[in-house]
Amino acid sequence: MYRSHTCGELSEKNIGNNVTLSGWVQTVRDKGNLIWVDLRDRYGVTQIVAENGRVADEVINGLKSLGREFVVQISGKVIARHSPNPNLKTGAIEVEATAVNLLNASVVPPFTIEDETDGGEELRMKYRYLDLRRNPVQEKLKLRNKVALETRKYLDSCDFMDVETPVLIKSTPEGARDFVVPSRMNPGQFYALPQSPQTFKQLLMVSGFDRYYQIVKCFRDEDLRADRQPEFTQIDCEMAFVEQEDVLKTFEGLIKHLFKTCRGIEFKEGFARMTFAEAIKRYGSDKPDIRFGMEFVELNEVAKGKNFAVFDDAELVIGIVAKGCSEFTRKQLDELTEFVKRPQIGAKGLIYCKCNTDGTFKSSVDKFFDNDALSLWAKKCHAVAGDLIFVLSGTESKVRSQMNELRLHLGNLLGLRKAGEFKPLWVLDFPLLEFDEENKRWHAMHHPFTSPKPEDIHLLETEPGKVRANAYDLAMNGVELGGGSIRIHDKKLQAKMFELLGFTKEDAEAQFGFLMNAFEFGAPPHGGLAFGLDRLVATMGGSDSIRDYIAFPKNNSGRDMMIDSPSVLYKEQLDELFIQTKPIN
Ligand code: AMO
Repeated sequence: MYRSHTCGELSEKNIGNNVTLSGWVQTVRDKGNLIWVDLRDRYGVTQIVAENGRVADEVINGLKSLGREFVVQISGKVIARHSPNPNLKTGAIEVEATAVNLLNASVVPPFTIEDETDGGEELRMKYRYLDLRRNPVQEKLKLRNKVALETRKYLDSCDFMDVETPVLIKSTPEGARDFVVPSRMNPGQFYALPQSPQTFKQLLMVSGFDRYYQIVKCFRDEDLRADRQPEFTQIDCEMAFVEQEDVLKTFEGLIKHLFKTCRGIEFKEGFARMTFAEAIKRYGSDKPDIRFGMEFVELNEVAKGKNFAVFDDAELVIGIVAKGCSEFTRKQLDELTEFVKRPQIGAKGLIYCKCNTDGTFKSSVDKFFDNDALSLWAKKCHAVAGDLIFVLSGTESKVRSQMNELRLHLGNLLGLRKAGEFKPLWVLDFPLLEFDEENKRWHAMHHPFTSPKPEDIHLLETEPGKVRANAYDLAMNGVELGGGSIRIHDKKLQAKMFELLGFTKEDAEAQFGFLMNAFEFGAPPHGGLAFGLDRLVATMGGSDSIRDYIAFPKNNSGRDMMIDSPSVLYKEQLDELFIQTKPIN
């Protein structure tokens, strides 16, 4: 028997018991006469103590020989601690050692394995198995485990069935780039790893499964960010005989259940809803953080016609108000200007107007706008004395997304994006299509299987850009947690959709023939949604980065630093696959 208890288990109730613990040595404090060891496992830390004269020399010597991260088995007697530590689960007791058994030694770890570590991110990624010993990281994975478990419980209680779908599938040109896998048995041919099980879950509806779910790995070869990994996990769901409202209700229920059971947070009200058009107009984003206001105010009416070319030539002038910030210093304003001028944001500059407490105004464009003109800005923005107005101008789409970035940045600076506050928002009525200016063609905004709103179908030929989809996203705190749609279940409409997306009949048949054929065999009306599990858990845990919530994540270049992957193949492997690599220029 390696242990009678875990390192997080013993309390005053156990005083007087003889116990055996096994774990990792966190610290050894040697005061000559007295020696303490903190012993750690997944469940907690227990203090081991030994005093010269009270315990055998071999025990003292055994403890003295331990180093950080040694694996050790210690037996002893539970005693009351001399100075109890109320911050520790086991803080009321310590174990007076009677035997020490070294199970395995450790070399000195490359960083300290404590809540606050001295290891940089790259180093911790390389030794991820050591980083995973740290309490804060373990807590994150425990939350993930709980969320996955509660997801299964909830969906099972709603009659959803877990069905696995294949991982070696077929490459399709929609969406992100595919990761591909060569087929040895079919030389020159490749499988693709699924970006999502989208078509399979639709086929399961045709098969009559009615309610499907899967907690499933998805793979996308796209540029990475804090909330994107090349392989990530979806809670993927599909339902037959449903309308949008049924889907929203079911999954609002799931999110409420998860917050209640995993975070002890109850959403009493129904989730807020907003159309895509409104979200873009008010926040410049299809996943607005509605924990704070700072909504966009369109200023064309009061900003144009004063010979200020930047505004006069712009399609749109928008302002936002930073409440109580009129005392911002030159340096703060310069920093914000630099922020919006960063290449990722791309604004040419930032205009401000201070609403001074004495009722006057001070702007960066005083040459063109006098006090009266600026008071009109303030009126339009509902800004009052002490407030600061920021203004950006440009083309509609650019200026809205630039202002969105500035709004979120100010929200962070001013502490308006409060940790511990969660504001879910359904974003509805996404456009069906978006125009790709570069390639002069339409793309499906969600995916090509999304159904247009029946009342907009007549616009498909004439004004495709105006067609709204039966598509929805759930946003929370500025993060897109999930999205889905009611699907097309009619072969003709699906064929029309592929045509609009620029597929020839032959291409559509070659790529998606299996699905369109299935639609001829009695496909029920169906719809569904997928949540990003990594994003959901990170958001629930109050973090922007999903990496910490994944046991073995990849870095921003898509590399696994621990196993050093991707890597080159041996020539024999390539030969067997009939693959020749090109030199990299
Ligand atoms: P979508 O592409 O919107 O929909 O993906 C669903 C959710 O998955 C998460 N997600 C990601 N998380 C981490 N890293 C990534 N690279 C990544 N990409 C997406 C997001 C997103 O909201 N088949 C459809 C769903 C449906 O229509 O039912 C789909 O995959 O949280």
